[in-house]
Amino acid sequence: MIIIANWKANPKTVKEATALARNIERSMRAGKNTEVVVAPPYPFLSAIGMVLKKTKLGAQNSFWEDTGPYTGEVSWRHLKNLGVRYVIIGHSERKKYSGETDIMINKKVRVLLENGITPILCIGENKKRKTGISSEIARNLRTALLGVPAKHLSRLIIAYEPVWAISTNPGSRPDTPDNASRVSRFMRSVLSRMYGRAAIRNLRIIYGGSVHSRNIRSYLDEGMMQGALVGKASLNAQEFLEIVRRAHG
Ligand code: PGA
Repeated sequence: MIIIANWKANPKTVKEATALARNIERSMRAGKNTEVVVAPPYPFLSAIGMVLKKTKLGAQNSFWEDTGPYTGEVSWRHLKNLGVRYVIIGHSERKKYSGETDIMINKKVRVLLENGITPILCIGENKKRKTGISSEIARNLRTALLGVPAKHLSRLIIAYEPVWAISTNPGSRPDTPDNASRVSRFMRSVLSRMYGRAAIRNLRIIYGGSVHSRNIRSYLDEGMMQGALVGKASLNAQEFLEIVRRAHG
């Protein structure tokens, strides 16, 4: 099981970020079977990396090239050098505000897997459907994984992130564990057609979309999720710790 704090572009200062990380770290009781990852904004990575001991360091994006003439980019190698072992890729907010495409996402996923970093690949439909599962999900999954060999799948994490359920999106509505479990089964069926059942046995599918301490257990139990990607609720140390505590069961 894995719980990931996606701080997005928060908090305002390195001082506040360090204090938040210290508060999380101080009371963290990560169980044997639960990994906890904190993904702060890039400029805070070094400072947060020094605070985290029981919790692992993650990033919210990475560029696919190693080094070179790519003004403004931060490469997977820079991140690896700072101790980052998990990178969130293809979050809907990157698609919306930075024009990230499925092809770019595919390059990022491939290069991270080849270089021993775990991508947390975000996949989710934009609009809630009354019935059925959006074909967007299968399409995005297939494009994101083009050229990814089966041997890498056990290290991949997929975050099902229904865009309409992200807490900070205007008009967002809560999802249900029932929908989450249907989509997770659908994703596994798409992937097993691509790779065969055995290859995806250890692949983790986690849930992202307004997760808090009161609904985490239902997404893990009824939703059949192997963890959560937590946005807003991860900015409050007490609430985030409670999510982790409840995730242990
Ligand atoms: P939220 O964000 O928990 O604030 O809904 C989830 C995400 O976008 O990662």
